[in-house]
Amino acid sequence: MRIGILGAGGMADALGTQWAGAGHEVMVSGRDPGRSAARAAGMTARAAAARPVRAGDFAEAAGFGEVVVVAVREEGLPATLRAAGPALRGKPLIDVTNVPFPEYDGTRSPARLIGELSGGHVVKAFNLCHVDVWRMTPPVFDGRPLAVPLCGDDPAAKAAAGTLVTDLGCTPVDGGGLDRAVLLEATAAFVIGLWFGGADAQAILPPLLSSGAHGQG
Ligand SMILES: NC(=O)c1ccc[n+]([C@@H]2O[C@H](COP(=O)([O-])OP(=O)(O)OC[C@H]3O[C@@H](n4cnc5c(N)ncnc54)[C@H](OP(=O)(O)O)[C@@H]3O)[C@@H](O)[C@H]2O)c1
Repeated sequence: MRIGILGAGGMADALGTQWAGAGHEVMVSGRDPGRSAARAAGMTARAAAARPVRAGDFAEAAGFGEVVVVAVREEGLPATLRAAGPALRGKPLIDVTNVPFPEYDGTRSPARLIGELSGGHVVKAFNLCHVDVWRMTPPVFDGRPLAVPLCGDDPAAKAAAGTLVTDLGCTPVDGGGLDRAVLLEATAAFVIGLWFGGADAQAILPPLLSSGAHGQG
């Protein structure tokens, strides 16, 4: 798969390196060509990629990707999407962004904004875990592969996102439609707050067997 990444920061580096190592063609992009090129070179070296990771500007990455990953800071979204341009229309867009902690107040949804500004098929994913988790090969905790919820409306875009989740060694979980992306964004803000307070956010939920009958008797 050709993956264009809007962003050349930590998330672009972590996810893109894994995908390049899994055999995908990856292009990162940022505002500074030198910084993006250096990022791409580092990713190529670490991924031992068959094909070098490329660097371009936002429009080039948007045009390059069969799937485009949005991995920029929230404050940069409008300018980045404007620069990426019409190539995003109708494409699968994987949105990993969060509202910065502790600014989250429920009024801003990056996923909704990306959908409105790009016309792409947005799938919210990868926003619940710290960047270092996405560098793990694979992310497995207590013997269990990490599950990654996906929220989006377009079946083909969701299937592409599911493939990229599987390529990390993780398990895709259908999180429902794009209207539920705001819940993933709120969940990120909530658990980041717990982690900052030193609490183990993983411990707040019971296993499935203790989650109630859910109409099954
Ligand atoms: N870090 C995490 O643990 C983590 C985990 C889950 C989700 N996320 C989300 O993923 C997204 C990317 O995070 P990251 O850790 O990769 O961030 P980062 O390392 O700071 O990189 C930010 C990227 O955004 C680009 N950008 C474009 N416009 C910008 C602007 N106005 N201000 C600042 N940066 C701008 C930067 O471009 P240049 O290359 O030109 O500087 C850079 O490529 C964020 O929305 C974040 O909330 C992060």
